[in-house]
Amino acid sequence: MSVLLIGGHGYIGSHVAIALARHKKVVIVDDHSNSNSDVGDRIGTVLGPYAGNIRHYNLTVATSYNSIGRLEDIIRANDVESVIHLAGLKSVGESTQRPLLYLAYNTELLYSVLCAMRHTGVKKILFSSTAALYGNGSEEPLGEDSPIVCTNAYSESKHIQELVLRQLAAQNEVQFTILRYFNPIGNDPSGILGENPPSKPNNVLPYMLRCVGTHTPFTVFGNDYNTVDGTGVRDYIDVCDLADAHVKVITEDSFENETYNVGYGTGTSVLQLVEMVQNLVGTRYLSYDIGPRRPGDIGMCVANPKKFIDKFNWVPKSNVEKAIESHWKWELRRRVDLEKSKS
Ligand code: UD1
Repeated sequence: MSVLLIGGHGYIGSHVAIALARHKKVVIVDDHSNSNSDVGDRIGTVLGPYAGNIRHYNLTVATSYNSIGRLEDIIRANDVESVIHLAGLKSVGESTQRPLLYLAYNTELLYSVLCAMRHTGVKKILFSSTAALYGNGSEEPLGEDSPIVCTNAYSESKHIQELVLRQLAAQNEVQFTILRYFNPIGNDPSGILGENPPSKPNNVLPYMLRCVGTHTPFTVFGNDYNTVDGTGVRDYIDVCDLADAHVKVITEDSFENETYNVGYGTGTSVLQLVEMVQNLVGTRYLSYDIGPRRPGDIGMCVANPKKFIDKFNWVPKSNVEKAIESHWKWELRRRVDLEKSKS
């Protein structure tokens, strides 16, 4: 029996693959539309003896008959018992420019996955969702019942997919677990694996670390929020802890049509993040300035993860500082690789 991991070469997917392959056989489907083609090799290097537990398939999951049929073949050939679906378009900024693309593409992808599952009799699905559903955030930690306020097509597409899963579960077609991720940061501690976007990273830590030692000041987007120091507060979670949360769901075979927030339940402001990075690399290597708010940004977004912790006895192994260290290790390696590729 194995677990099908759709989007298993992406940032979160590759970390889920590494964590899960130590317990289960994992079948990755990815088309590298938002990841490098060498991710599979890097996963193998990190896993060492467990690398044999992973199979990789290069497949674009689309709504065509061929694509769904190919996915069904993969499910049958690997005796798949459950699916983790992490693939999809994920840039909030782009989704505001191209809402139709985000709504159509992300929901069609789920449609294809569900068709293949139905035709092969697989019912269990772990679906990756997002704290972006909570829209304007809140000064209180966000529980799963906090109001859903979609402010862009990315979160709307996640909301629609959640609704589809609930509808099908009510008809006993699927059994789901939905994880709403807060802000994943960090990388595998080996430094071998990490996200490498070709242009400016969207998220705060990867961009901040790119600024380190380059004489590029990091810009803090606004310092007039109602938060501890006026800058945006988020619940950053080490991607390895987030990956372990997936392992919990799969190894406990928990598909009870429940939705969980996955974060640490503690907030870190942008200025606190700057200070943590400066503590690691040296104050003089990271300077910052204060700019205007980023359009659409919110002040505070912190999880109440009690439901997940209680259900799975989840004890995170890492913290924000360790995640920054592992991300920095990857950033250093990324720079070395970049230099090598130029020479
Ligand atoms: C982003 C995504 C969201 C996703 C979440 C977790 C956007 C608009 N939203 O949200 O969909 O679920 O990550 O991956 O992309 N900041 C700066 N300077 C920078 C970059 C960011 O000060 O150069 C600040 C932001 O204003 C914010 C904090 O850093 O206060 C975190 O920003 P970011 O990493 O983009 O995450 P989110 O805004 O939470």
